[in-house]
Amino acid sequence: MYSDILNICCIGAGYVGGPTMSVIAYKCPNISVNVVDVNKERIQLWNSSNLDELPIYEPGLKEIIKECRDRNLTFSTKIQERISLADMIFISVNTPTKTKGIGAGQASDLKWVEACAREVATHARGHTIVVEKSTLPVKTAEVIKKILESSISINKTKEKSKSFDVLSNPEFLAEGSAIKDLIDPDRVLIGGENKDAISALNNIYNKWVPQEKILHTNIWSSELAKLTANAFLAQRVSSINSIGALCEATGADIREVSRAIGSDSRIGSKFLDSGPGFGGSCFKKDILNLVYLSKFFGLNEVANFWESVVTLNNWHQHRISTLIIKKLFGTVTGKKISILGFAFKANTNDTRESAAINICKDLLNEGAILEIHDPKVDIKQISKDLNIEVNNKILEFKENYPTYFEGNWCKINNLDDAFDFSDAIVILTEWDEYSKINWQKASYKMRKPCWLFDARSIIKPEILMNTNINLWRIGDGSTI
Ligand code: NAD
Ligand code: UGA
Repeated sequence: MYSDILNICCIGAGYVGGPTMSVIAYKCPNISVNVVDVNKERIQLWNSSNLDELPIYEPGLKEIIKECRDRNLTFSTKIQERISLADMIFISVNTPTKTKGIGAGQASDLKWVEACAREVATHARGHTIVVEKSTLPVKTAEVIKKILESSISINKTKEKSKSFDVLSNPEFLAEGSAIKDLIDPDRVLIGGENKDAISALNNIYNKWVPQEKILHTNIWSSELAKLTANAFLAQRVSSINSIGALCEATGADIREVSRAIGSDSRIGSKFLDSGPGFGGSCFKKDILNLVYLSKFFGLNEVANFWESVVTLNNWHQHRISTLIIKKLFGTVTGKKISILGFAFKANTNDTRESAAINICKDLLNEGAILEIHDPKVDIKQISKDLNIEVNNKILEFKENYPTYFEGNWCKINNLDDAFDFSDAIVILTEWDEYSKINWQKASYKMRKPCWLFDARSIIKPEILMNTNINLWRIGDGSTI
C-alpha cells in the first residue's frame, strides 16, 4: 500500500503548483511528475519552447524547466488521465476570498478545492495519497476526506481496492524567491494521521531537505500553522508601516527604528521594511480567513485583532496617495506622474493585491496622468487591474508645450522615457534597476518643482544632492 511514490499528479499549474512540482521533478528524477490545469493557455505557456514565455517569472525556474520538462515533468490538461495514474495527488488550486454568499469578503472560496476532490474521487485508482498544497481553512481536510470516502462506498463492488489518505502540506515559498525557498526551505510541514502516508511524503522531501527540517504535526495544526505564519508576517509589515507614519510625524527615521528593534534577536530583522503596504495574493486573503474562522468560533476579540492588520494596510496605501497629492500643491489634475513598479514586490510578474493598484487608482481618480513602468508586468494585466483601458495618446503638444488628457495612463517600456515633463516619480516596487537611475539626467527632464516619492527606501538622499528633485521617503521624519 505504501510503496515508494513513483507517479505524482499536481492539480493547479499556478504560482505554487508550477515551481513546487518543478523542484520535486528536479530533485527526484525517478518520480514522474505531472502538472494538470483546466486553463489551456496557461498549460500552453508552460510547454512553450521559448522559456521566456513561461506563465510565471521566477529566478532559476526556466533552468529547471529546461532540464526536467519532457524528462520527468509534464504540463497538460489531461486531468482525469493523470489522476488515474498517480500514487500521490497534490491539490494546488486557488482559494480566493469569497465574493458572495455566507462569509463573503472573508471566508475562502473552496469551490475549486471541492471540484478537485470530486475529480480525484471519481478517477483515482488503487491507493492514493491526497495532499493539500493550497492554503486552506482549518478542517478542510475533513471535507476532502468525506468526498473521497463517499466515492469508495458508491463504487464498493466495482473497485474494492480504491482507498485514500489525506495530508496537509502547506507551501511557504515566497514569490520572487520561490526556487531558492523550495530548494532550501526553513521547514517543510506535513500534517496527517497515518504515519505511513506521512513517511511517503517525507521521503520525497528528504531527497534534498534534511530530516530535522521536516516537521510532522496533526492535520489541523498544519492547516492552522500556514494561516498563522502569513498572519504573523503581514502583522509585522503593518506594525512597521504604522510606526513609519509616526516617524514622519515626529522626525524619527523608520530605517533607524527598524535596525534598532531588529537587532534584538527576539524580534529579528526580517519583515521590518516599511513599504507601500503588503500585497500579494495571500496575506490579505489568509488573514481574512483567520478572521472568519475566529468569528465562526465566537472569538470576536481574536477576529478584531487580526482584522486590524488589514485595516491598517488599506489605510496606509491611501495615506501614500493622499500625501502625494498634498505635496503636489493639493491637486494632481492634469499632472504627469511616473509610476515605477506595478508588481506587488520585486522579481515577480504577479500584481495580485499590489499596493500599486490602489495608489494608481486614487491618483487617476484625482485626474493624474500616469506613465507606468514595470520590467515584468504586461500592459494587459495593468489594464485589468486598474479597470481602465490604456490610452497611448495621453498628451498633445500645443505650441511646443504638452497638454495631457486627465485621468489616463499608459505603459512605458524604456525607463529613459519615464521622466519627460513629469511632476513626480513614485517608486512602488523595489526593482533593482530603479536604484541605478541617473537622477541628474532625470531631474533635467522633469517639470519643476518636481518630486521623487520613494515608498521602498531604495534611493539614498545624497544621490539627489546635485539635482532639483525634492525627495519624500517612507517613514523619514527629516524630509517632512
Ligand atoms: P494560481 O491562481 O496561480 O493557480 C491556481 C491554478 O489552479 C490556476 O491555474 C487554475 O486554473 C487551476 N485550477 C483551479 N481549479 C482547477 C481544477 N478544478 N482543476 C484543474 N485546475 C484548476 O494560485 P497560486 O498562487 O498557485 O495559489 C494556489 C494555492 O497556494 C492557494 O491556496 C494559495 O493561497 C497557496 N499559496 C500561494 C503562494 C503564492 O506565493 N502564490 C504561496 C503559498 C501558498
Ligand atoms: C508570502 C510569505 O512570505 C510566504 O511564506 C507564503 O508562502 C506566501 O506569502 C503565500 O502564502 O502566498 P509573498 O506574498 O510571495 O510570500 O511575498 P512576501 O515576501 O511575503 O511579501 C508580501 C508583501 O509584503 C509584499 O508586498 C512585500 O513588498 C511586503 N513586505 C514584505 C514589506 O512591505 N516589507 C517587508 O519587510 C517584507
